[in-house]
Amino acid sequence: MTVQIVTTRDALRAALGATRPGLVPTMGALHAGHLSLIARSANENPLTVVSVFVNPTQFSSPADLDRYPRTLKRDATVAGEVGANLIFAPDVSEIYPPGFDTVVEVGALAQRWEGASRPGHFRGVATVVAILLNLVQPARSYFGEKDYQQLQIVRRSHRDLALPGEIVGCPTIRDDDGLAMSSRNTRLSRSDRSRAQAIPRAIDKVRTAAALGEMEAGALERIARAELNRPGIDLDYAAVVAGDSLEPIPRLIPGARILIAANVGGIRLIDNAAIALPETAPE
Ligand code: PAF
Repeated sequence: MTVQIVTTRDALRAALGATRPGLVPTMGALHAGHLSLIARSANENPLTVVSVFVNPTQFSSPADLDRYPRTLKRDATVAGEVGANLIFAPDVSEIYPPGFDTVVEVGALAQRWEGASRPGHFRGVATVVAILLNLVQPARSYFGEKDYQQLQIVRRSHRDLALPGEIVGCPTIRDDDGLAMSSRNTRLSRSDRSRAQAIPRAIDKVRTAAALGEMEAGALERIARAELNRPGIDLDYAAVVAGDSLEPIPRLIPGARILIAANVGGIRLIDNAAIALPETAPE
């Protein structure tokens, strides 16, 4: 499929006309996880826009922002191969024009977990997503469940600010070794990559214990921690939470999730999964 790359708001509007497309917001460096979102959008919408914008306001370290891979040409090719029609790749000043001074601040949902260790991160995410949704006016926007807290924050700001279209959450795509797809995985050494497999293993063990009847969040968290208590893994949190509010819960409830964040070889990795209740949940 031929992909058009546009870099300005005006060119975006001209290319879209009256069409309400599917939107896949990304920061580029596209991997199989992104491609699954693009393919789904292409299947459900007459036209698919992929935004490629390394958003400076969601980085706390200028070094991390500089280091972020920028691979626009390759991104456009691979996005086109799975059905994208338009790449919106604006400069920073196109998204944040001179004098820009407004932010989207989501409350309690953004304070815990990733919000606690990355202050301001979700403010940057919620702000740029609101701008992108307003510029593109999509019928549907696609986000991966891999960044589960981000997805919940986007859902909340989308609802609270009456942003356009529908938010579609899509399942995490995993590599053969179980690791959730992330642009950070490429920064793991071979030995750290093998250590990091303890994260999906911990999730599997938690889900298996729940399926066998363990309902106590504390016990499930201990199972995850035991799996992750290994040299080279610096665990930040392994928490059983309510799937919508992300508040800790004492016992499993419908929609419960396990959230995990750990540093492996200096690379912060996050993962999560739904925990199904046992078929016959004890009282
Ligand atoms: O998940 C990402 O890649 C980014 O946080 C997003 C949603 C594109 C906003 O910059």
